[in-house]
Amino acid sequence: MSSQSIETIAAAMVAEGKGILAIDESSPTIKKRFDSIGAECTEENRRAYRELLIAGDDINEFISGMILYDETIRQATGDGTPFPKLLASRGIMPGIKVDGGAKDLAGHPGEKVTEGLDGLRDRLAEYRELGAPFAKWRAVITIGDGLPSRGCITANCEALARYAALCQEAGIVPMVEPEVMLDGDHSIERCYDVCEETLRALFAALYDQRVVLEGTILKASMVLTGNKCAKRAGVEEVAERTLRCLKNSVPAALPGIVFLSGGQTPVEATAHLNAMNAMAGELPWKLSFSYSRALQAPALAAWNGDPANGKAAQAALRHRAQLNSAASLGHYKESMETAAA
Ligand code: 13P
Repeated sequence: MSSQSIETIAAAMVAEGKGILAIDESSPTIKKRFDSIGAECTEENRRAYRELLIAGDDINEFISGMILYDETIRQATGDGTPFPKLLASRGIMPGIKVDGGAKDLAGHPGEKVTEGLDGLRDRLAEYRELGAPFAKWRAVITIGDGLPSRGCITANCEALARYAALCQEAGIVPMVEPEVMLDGDHSIERCYDVCEETLRALFAALYDQRVVLEGTILKASMVLTGNKCAKRAGVEEVAERTLRCLKNSVPAALPGIVFLSGGQTPVEATAHLNAMNAMAGELPWKLSFSYSRALQAPALAAWNGDPANGKAAQAALRHRAQLNSAASLGHYKESMETAAA
């Protein structure tokens, strides 16, 4: 168990050229991913798949931390090494998803609020013992006709801030994730407005709850056109608007912002991150990645539920992680996609 300060942990999460791999899918979500390749969603299959992702060679060159699910942080490799111990021995921080999932928000049709504050202090103490130096809580903000409501943004940001304060009390770095969903036919301008309103409300709530920004990481959505909108914004426009939104709403004291992929293809997610870092010049915070689908998709396809494909799955993950590492430095080129994995 590390006794580093939250400021030191947060800085290490966004160390030069590194980002986060999210492997914290809840059991229903990982079942959807397994269904897509026809793999059975048993506890042993989930363990075996996560072992592949955790144990690949040299992944620590590009990955500073992995976010685990409650089941996963208690699991071990086939030869009995607990996952958090294996990760720590390779210089990768074992993070933990601690929210209880997004549930319908009463009085707000079509909107969600994330639950999980009850008992969180005790659960954080246990996760700290299990070796977790950082945690994640995801809120869901939906764009639609008249949505999001102010009530939805306020309720979610207050929960994020209370979670973050409890994390810091336990010596754990909170990753705060207000995910603005990609679903819908909204314009990129509308997405910009919702992202900015959400982030301003989030940082006001973090201030109210006395959260130390130097020991906090933001997991942010990019400013994108809705996935059902006919006219999609290009890479440069997404990068330019996302940077503008973040500069207008995220305090400079924060050490890093890591993006979720949110339904972008792996190549899109890498290209967007790269464009931001290539065009930005000096920024107050690091801009890196904390992708689940955009890092795992090629590995999941290569694995295909067959243990014989383990090495190919690990090579696919390593390649994607390497490309995103390059993107976090603004050094990615599309030609690198076809370089040998
Ligand atoms: P995606 O990158 O697949 O959006 O997942 C990131 C994540 O952790 C969502 O909470």
